[in-house]
Amino acid sequence: MVSASPPPLLEMRGISKQYPGVKALDDVGLTLERGEVLALMGENGAGKSTLMKVLAGAVRPDAGAIFLDGTEQQVTSPVDARGCGIAVIHQEFNLVPALSVRENIFLGLEQTTAGFVRRGDERRRAEELLRRIGVAVHPETPCRRLTVAQQQAVEIAKALAVDARIIVMDEPTATLTPQEVEKLFAVIADLTQQGIGVIYVSHRLDEIEEIADRVQVLRDGQVVAVRAADQLPRRELIELMVGRSLEEEFPSRRQSVGEPRLVVRGLCRGDKVRNVSFEVRRGEIVALAGLVGAGRTEVVRLIFGADQAEAGHVALDGQVLSIRSPRDAIRAGICLLTEDRKHQGLILSQSVLHNFALPNAAHFVAAGRGFTGWGFTGWIDQQRERDAFAGYATSMRIRANAAAHPAGTLSGGNQQKVVLAKWLESNSEVLIFDEPTRGIDVGAKVEIYGLMNELAEQGKAIVMVSSELPEVLGMADRILVMHEGRITGEIADPAAATQADILSLAIR
Ligand SMILES: Nc1ncnc2c1ncn2[C@@H]1O[C@H](COP(=O)(O)OP(=O)(O)OP(=O)(O)O)[C@@H](O)[C@H]1O
Ligand SMILES: [Mg+2]
Repeated sequence: MVSASPPPLLEMRGISKQYPGVKALDDVGLTLERGEVLALMGENGAGKSTLMKVLAGAVRPDAGAIFLDGTEQQVTSPVDARGCGIAVIHQEFNLVPALSVRENIFLGLEQTTAGFVRRGDERRRAEELLRRIGVAVHPETPCRRLTVAQQQAVEIAKALAVDARIIVMDEPTATLTPQEVEKLFAVIADLTQQGIGVIYVSHRLDEIEEIADRVQVLRDGQVVAVRAADQLPRRELIELMVGRSLEEEFPSRRQSVGEPRLVVRGLCRGDKVRNVSFEVRRGEIVALAGLVGAGRTEVVRLIFGADQAEAGHVALDGQVLSIRSPRDAIRAGICLLTEDRKHQGLILSQSVLHNFALPNAAHFVAAGRGFTGWGFTGWIDQQRERDAFAGYATSMRIRANAAAHPAGTLSGGNQQKVVLAKWLESNSEVLIFDEPTRGIDVGAKVEIYGLMNELAEQGKAIVMVSSELPEVLGMADRILVMHEGRITGEIADPAAATQADILSLAIR
């Protein structure tokens, strides 16, 4: 006798969601079996996060239904989702900055005795969860003091704290280093062994190949393929995602490195940055590599004036600069694309075009017309502004009608492209990119690398902080590796180096 196979752990049917001017989801289905990892793939804006927000009860679809173990469920709020055993780690973190790690993990799940929160129990449980994912943060640390990677770890701990049967991770590794990713994969293996189903959203193809059982690809809000992971070669996956094939991942560049432009000498700040000196030449891309917490972001924040150095100086084209704030830095011709896009990159309520034009206002002041003299608010040539943006939008594949919409309505990856476009346009001489392609789809990555190459060819000095080792090896002319606030090594010929070479300098 043939017994009917049990219904899947999760089934989403016919999910549609229309936003003003864009159909984010168009009749999308999805199934997830017990104990499997389903990778949800697609280019920026394809609808991945929207679909996961529907599952989380955070976005109400126009149509569609959700079934768990074959029974339809009403998931109309995050509380419903949690009640169904669905935990979602969103792409944009949702931690409350003023609350501690423990309080964030147990938010809404407080363990009480006669109305009092059982702090001791919570602390022990939080410690256990953090240990399980291998993060060393104290449960009572306020979340605002955590690095981006630590915040991500807390999000994961939060998902583990509810006894979830379905865990969604929307780009969980975007901020993690290879070691941390390995730890996360061990946790995922452990979860699936217990029958938990995992939906994994990522733009990193290596990861998908390593952990996914099945792959589902979305394109413009529709499902274009669902396949066993081992039956989907990388080339085909990329084509399904971006609708074209990609020839080379790292476009080549005409190399002509000139005299030193940015010179950094003896920068110090506490134990985070210890006597850091280096230089970047005309037309050169220098990568700062190292583990999260090695001090890379701290160094670039000092150069940009976001923090104050206790010792040392920065010079540009032979002139020692006196930079006390980011405003000074921008004026001196140095810009920084921050790693924390959500808090420092964009004004989410303002239009995309406004965000793009903000630091570039001086650029778009119409030539020949009266400059009023009060700051940058001369006659801004809006047509030039729009044209300039349109150029980036086309090359980086940002939706054409995006310019007029609030930045907050763009998908995570597309928001990052706007931040990037804004700095690429800024006419700075030194461009510092902290994790420039985090969360960016494979197709747009190639375009961004091409834009970085163009800037280098124009003679600018470029500093790239990146945790993606293939990107560091593929793009940099020179790699400086940091460990515990110091530069511990230099790789002068990245083309001949391997990931292991970087890691051996980064770990020590
Ligand atoms: N609140 C909103 N208001 C208007 N449009 C939205 C909103 N949220 C998402 N969208 C639009 O829906 C589409 C799908 O976005 P979604 O965030 O699901 O993409 P994604 O696949 O997660 O992309 P990424 O890889 O960049 O994270 C995009 O065109 C986006 O601009
Ligand atoms: Mg997304």
